[in-house]
Amino acid sequence: MSMVSLRSLLDAATAGRYAVGAFNCNNMEIVQAIIGAAEKEASPVIIQASQGAIKYAGLEYIAALVRVAAEKSGVPVALHLDHGTSFAQAMQCIRAGFTSVMFDGSALPLEENIAITRRIVEVAHAVGVSVEAELGRIPGTEDELSVAEQQALFTAPDQASEFAAATGVDALAVAVGTAHGHYKGEPKLDFPRLAQIASQVPVPLVLHGSSGVPDDAIRQAVSLGIRKINIDTDVREAFSGSLRETLAAQATQTDPRKILGPAREAMEEVVRRKMRVFGCAGRAG
Ligand code: G3H
Ligand code: 13P
Ligand code: ZN
Repeated sequence: MSMVSLRSLLDAATAGRYAVGAFNCNNMEIVQAIIGAAEKEASPVIIQASQGAIKYAGLEYIAALVRVAAEKSGVPVALHLDHGTSFAQAMQCIRAGFTSVMFDGSALPLEENIAITRRIVEVAHAVGVSVEAELGRIPGTEDELSVAEQQALFTAPDQASEFAAATGVDALAVAVGTAHGHYKGEPKLDFPRLAQIASQVPVPLVLHGSSGVPDDAIRQAVSLGIRKINIDTDVREAFSGSLRETLAAQATQTDPRKILGPAREAMEEVVRRKMRVFGCAGRAG
C-alpha cells in the first residue's frame, strides 16, 4: 500500500472511537518490527521520526525505509515527523515524502507557536500532508518535576480550542500528566482536564510519553478522545533488553543477524500488544 496521511487515519479512529499507535523508529529493524506488528494485527500504523532519529539515520534513509515497508505491506501507514523544530524542517520532511509533520512550538510564546504552526498548515495542506501541534508542555521523566510544577505546564482547555481554530491543525498534542521516558512511579493523568479539552477542541488529541502508562489509563484516555498514542521508550527497552540477553547468553556471538533478529521479534511483540490496547488492531480496513 502507498502511504496515507495522518488525517485519514485519525478521521477513521474518531469515527471508530479508538486510537492509532505512533511508534518511533531509528533503524531498519525497528521499522520492520513496527510494520510486522501492524500486519499481524491488521492495524493502521504511524511510524515517526524524532530529531534524534533524523540526526542518527538521516532523513532520506528513514523516508526510504518507511516507504518500502509501506509499499510491501497491506496496511495503511503514515510517516510522521515527531517534535519538529522549524518551518524549514517541516518542508524538508514533506519533500522527503513524509505524510504528516509535527511542529512543536510548545516552548514558544503562544502567538509565535500559532504563527509558525499556521504557516506549516497552509503549505502542508496544499499538498495533502497533515500537521500535529503541541500546546502546554510535555516534560521528560528525567526533569523530575513536582506535581505542582508539572500541572503548571498542562494544556488549558480554552487556549486549546482557540489554538485549534487559529491554526487549522489535524491533531493536537496535549499535556495532561504524561512525560517522555521511563517513569519511576505511576503517571497520574488529569482525566477531567482531558475530558474538558476534548469537549472544546474538535480535532483529534495526541498522547505523548505513553510508554509505561498502565493499560487502564490508556483505555480511559482513548474513551475521552485520545486518537494518536506515541510510544518510544517501551520499544527501546524491548530492543536493548533483548540485546543484553542475547549477548549475555552468547558472549562470543558476532553475527549481527543473530543479535538483532531476536531484538526485532521482541519489539514486534511489544508493538502488537499496544495495538490491541489502543483498539487499532483489526482496523486496517
Ligand atoms: O519524543 C521523544 C522521543 O522519545 C524521541 O527521542 O530524539 O532521543 O529520538 P530522541
Ligand atoms: P515515550 O518514549 O515516553 O513513549 O514517548 C514517546 C513520544 O511521546 C514521542 O513523541
Ligand atoms: Zn513526544
